[in-house]
Formats: sequence, C-alpha cells, structure tokens
Amino acid sequence: MRQKIVAGNWKMNNDLKESLKLISEVANMVTDEVSNDAVVIVSAPFTNIYALDQWKTGSSAVDKIKLAGQNCCWEESGAYTGEVSAKMLKSIGADYVILGHSERRQYFAESNSQLAKKVDLALKHELIPIFCVGETLQEREQGIHFDVIKSQLKEGLYHLIKSVFKTVVIAYEPVWAIGTGLTATPEQAQEVHAYIRQLIAEGYDEETAESVSILYGGSCNPSNAASLFSQKDIDGGLIGGASLKSRDFTDIIKTFN
Ligand code: G3P
Repeated sequence: MRQKIVAGNWKMNNDLKESLKLISEVANMVTDEVSNDAVVIVSAPFTNIYALDQWKTGSSAVDKIKLAGQNCCWEESGAYTGEVSAKMLKSIGADYVILGHSERRQYFAESNSQLAKKVDLALKHELIPIFCVGETLQEREQGIHFDVIKSQLKEGLYHLIKSVFKTVVIAYEPVWAIGTGLTATPEQAQEVHAYIRQLIAEGYDEETAESVSILYGGSCNPSNAASLFSQKDIDGGLIGGASLKSRDFTDIIKTFN
C-alpha cells in the first residue's frame, strides 16, 4: 500500500547502549512533534534489534516506530556461518528488511537472483522488503542508469504476483549520492522514481504502480527533504547519516506534517 515512509538505515553504527539512547530520543521527539501518518522505520544492526523491540514495547512510540533488519540470508536456515535468517529477524521484532542495498551489492556481490530469493524468504516470514535499486556514477555517466535499474527491479521482484508485489517498498538510492553529500536534485530523483513507477505499470498495471511506496535515499537531510518529498513519485526517504542524529531524523519525518 502506498504510504509515506521515513526509514533510518543506521548501517554498522551504534552499540547496544547507543542504540537505546538514540531510539529513545527519536521516540520522544516523534511523539511530541510529529503530527503526520508517515511510517517511521529504524533499521539497526542485528545485534540490537531485540533490545530495541523490547524497549519500544513500553514506549509511547510503540506503534509509530517500526524496526527493520539491514539484510537477511538467501536460505531458510542451515550451514551459513555468520548469516541471519528472515525467520530470526521476525522473531526478534523486525517488521521490515532492507534488501539489495548498494553496499551489500558492492561488498558482498549480491546478485539480483540471490536477492529474489531473499525477497521470497522475507515475505514468507511476514517481513516487508525495502528493495534497493540504484546506479553508480559511472553507469549514470554512461547513460545506462535506466537499464541498470530496470534489470535490478525485474530480476529482483518481477517473479512476485501482483498482490504480493504491492506489499513491497522500493528505494531508489543513486550510489553516487550515498554518504557523499551529493544529493540527487529533486528533478533527477523524480525522473527515476517516475521511470520506476512506469516500469511497474508496464510489468503489472497502473493500479499496482500507484499503490507502491518508492523512497529516495542518498544524502537526504533536513534541508533537502521537503524539496525531494514534494515530488509526485517520491513517497519518503531511506536515510543514512542523518538518521544517526535524532534531531535531524525527526526533522526529516516532520517534513510530512
Ligand atoms: O540506505 C540509506 C543510505 O544508503 C543513504 O545514506 O548517508 O547518504 O543518507 P546517506
């Protein structure tokens, strides 16, 4: 279902004590200052999710803040040392899982076919995938960024039937904007978001395309969130660095007030 969503991707930051401090700050600010119905998601390292869920259960933000994993294994269970399964993530309080983040595609050579398996296991265990697509600077300079995004989308998600596809969240993260401070312009972001929505309309139908949330990620911060989120096909953000600061993350969420 198409929702306004602001998801914080903490990446490999915050030990347990720091995670609890940050989520309590965000929860207090969100409770006091946010008057919109945007879904707020925190994606913490695996090690902290259970404690965050336990903390959240007693907080005023229990229904407002959802938890996400940053990845899950491509297999259900077994001899995969170091991996964490979708079933395990669900059991410790996650409702979402980020899949196909460019850093995992880069450092762990995650293929679209492997990601399709991760998507299936996430959905099997009632985790909502936040499926990341996006091009590198070289791909954009070569003018093949639309082709790259098309293959990521189709190979990662188009095996899903329409009713299931509608439950997935998509995040467009131009790799060249991640962590660089070089945010895509609202026009650049809108162009790709519109292209993604058009691809979905062609692959499924207009109604499906209009029902999917497409988030922008890549140096989104309180000063540019409004111009990005006001774009027709941008439904919110997947926030990295700015989500590690409670004030900035809350200000981005307040963009939808
Ligand atoms: O997943 C979101 C992340 O990749 C964006 O990072 O620091 O550019 O907001 P950042």
